[in-house]
Amino acid sequence: MIKGNLLYEGKAKTVFETDNPNELLVYFKDDATAFNGEKHGTIEGKGVINNKLSEFFFKQLKDRGIKNHFVEKVGEREMLVKKLDMIKLEVVVRNFVAGSLVKRLGLEEGTPLTVPIVEYYYKSDELGDPMLNRWHIMALDLAKIDELNQMEHVALSVNTILRDLLRAKNVDLIDFKLEFGRFDGEVLLADEISPDNCRFWDTVTHEKLDKDRFRQDLGGVVEAYQEMLQRLTL
Ligand code: ADP
Ligand code: TMP
Ligand code: ASP
Repeated sequence: MIKGNLLYEGKAKTVFETDNPNELLVYFKDDATAFNGEKHGTIEGKGVINNKLSEFFFKQLKDRGIKNHFVEKVGEREMLVKKLDMIKLEVVVRNFVAGSLVKRLGLEEGTPLTVPIVEYYYKSDELGDPMLNRWHIMALDLAKIDELNQMEHVALSVNTILRDLLRAKNVDLIDFKLEFGRFDGEVLLADEISPDNCRFWDTVTHEKLDKDRFRQDLGGVVEAYQEMLQRLTL
């Protein structure tokens, strides 16, 4: 594999072309942002951990029948992925009340939800990622109805798989965000799965083991990411 031109510089990752037109190289940075890029920081070593955790989650999901973009980990901070035509949506699944749901519905953080909630957000930095429903998605032609149904089904399956996997490590899966893209007429799970885009709480102490430590200035950010890596892979 030969690293090619820079294709996209994102907030947490950089994406490069490769000598294979169907594959991209994703480089995980230590940069962290929150609140739509308003807050900036560096979490030393985050890129290495998120690359390892994403590899772990994507492999576990593939083993359980969830097709995704992961090809192989090729460096400490680099993974090879299938090049997708990305769907400009963020698909969020929630099991407990946290984050924006606290503000929007006035519910107490940590309240368990009787059924998981699925939400869609328009991936647009300029608009601040507004929430969408199915009708907005159809009207904006962001995805076809069958693609949307597929994404929702996969998102809920991912929720069940990750929830069980994490529960065995004494971690509650509070919520998470997924992204999808098209490849050869199929919708595949893409991007990353890490403490940057999931909320993980210790089941017993309810200690936050994710990016909320950075968002809320709680300290011990890298330590929380390392803890997740250790619990899952060591
Ligand atoms: P952001 O764009 O929100 O700043 P990142 O820094 O994580 O996010 O950048 C990674 C970018 O790569 C994202 O825009 C994401 O949608 C995109 N991406 C993720 N997986 C793939 C893939 N398999 N093919 C093409 N693009 C992808
Ligand atoms: P929220 O409670 O802030 O809406 O976030 C829900 C989940 O989505 C949480 O696990 C964090 C993740 N997320 C992202 O990955 N990117 C984002 O831009 C936002 C707003 C949330
Ligand atoms: N990734 C988003 C941003 O930069 C927000 C977040 O994860 O809280 O700004």
